[in-house]
Amino acid sequence: MLSKKVEEALNKQVAYEVYASSSYLSMASWCEKEGLRGTASFLYAQSEEEKTHMLKIFRYINEAGGHALSPALKEPPNKYNSINHVFELALEQEINVTNQINKLVELSLVTQDYASFHFLQWFVEEQLEEEKLFRMILDIIKLAGKEGRSLLLIDNEIGKLREEEEKS
Ligand code: FEO
Repeated sequence: MLSKKVEEALNKQVAYEVYASSSYLSMASWCEKEGLRGTASFLYAQSEEEKTHMLKIFRYINEAGGHALSPALKEPPNKYNSINHVFELALEQEINVTNQINKLVELSLVTQDYASFHFLQWFVEEQLEEEKLFRMILDIIKLAGKEGRSLLLIDNEIGKLREEEEKS
């Protein structure tokens, strides 16, 4: 049975994951309008992935005896200065999510909620992967910029990343 504290914190995490999904959707739309089709497709998939994170937590709350609450939607930004700006914001968002997950892990330990502690390990791993992915994309953008490669090439590289990730 979830303690009230853990239940509330998990419900907050549901809201963060919904926001992350909505924020990636907004970034995908901006990229698509800029003609960056590979990046848009990567970000649409990322938005879907955040939805699966949200549902994973949502379902767990009910399974563990709490009450999962569907959160209010907060509107994300919809304008960006550049592809670099998009991914800087994306990395910042992932770092924030990592910090929130870490706080949840800490709370589960303090409250001796070992089922939630166990459940959250998947997210600890996932955040490590997500931060790594976004840092890699920022490196690609930086490197391509230095080598004077076109935005189209960067877009193709980012577009291919999701396929490579799924194959590995
Ligand atoms: Fe579900 Fe990327 O945090």
